[in-house]
Amino acid sequence: MAQINPSMLSADFSRLAEEAKAVEGADWLHIDVMDNHFVPNLTLGLPVVESLRKATDTPLDCHLMIENPDRWAPAYAEAGAGSVTFHAEAAAAPVRLAREIRAQGARASLALRPATPIEPYEDLLPELDMILVMTVEPGFGGQAFLDVMLPKIRRTRRLIDRHGLPLWLQVDGGVSAATIERCAEAGADVFVAGSAVYGADDPAAAVRGLREQAERAGRAARPATESGGSGA
Ligand code: DX5
Ligand code: ZN
Repeated sequence: MAQINPSMLSADFSRLAEEAKAVEGADWLHIDVMDNHFVPNLTLGLPVVESLRKATDTPLDCHLMIENPDRWAPAYAEAGAGSVTFHAEAAAAPVRLAREIRAQGARASLALRPATPIEPYEDLLPELDMILVMTVEPGFGGQAFLDVMLPKIRRTRRLIDRHGLPLWLQVDGGVSAATIERCAEAGADVFVAGSAVYGADDPAAAVRGLREQAERAGRAARPATESGGSGA
């Protein structure tokens, strides 16, 4: 079951509640938190997440592109985010951090920048609920999809399956009608799309279209299995 998470980075920040409603039917709302240190861009933080939580029933998927997630990430889970993603490159103690996030009742997810391999994190997979393979350099919406990430998506899917774990595999960056099928074929099952959703005339229809494409491509590539994740 493919899940589509519109990235609110491409939404109108002065109308976040309305923009959340504009993608009704989306599985999660993807919230990009940037601190202008881990990435060269500054977006929003905890108070906005807390407000948005009250303004929508769609669960929040917080992608923390920040330094020192060990200190800040648990608060996003406490604020009601359903999933909290921290970056492997920034976390000092990823196992402890994942456990703290899970203890707050949220899903814990590890993100990898394009140059960060999955293999060193194999033993951590049981501590996690999702791996995010970045398909652009994090920091900005609207960048071109990096095809060179497809082998890492495949390797990550194989590792997850080999361990028999129920982890989801998310891709983020440049995901659109033109690229989502390649991601699904490679084994991704959660798809973040910013400009492809909010740049469309009908964002809710764009979500449905992307989901159909991803499910079709995932089923074709992996007919004998459940095509990855277990659904929301
Ligand atoms: C980039 C962010 C993405 C971004 C994706 O660093 O993590 O979530 O919003 O935007 P698109 O889908 O336009 O590439
Ligand atoms: Zn993101």
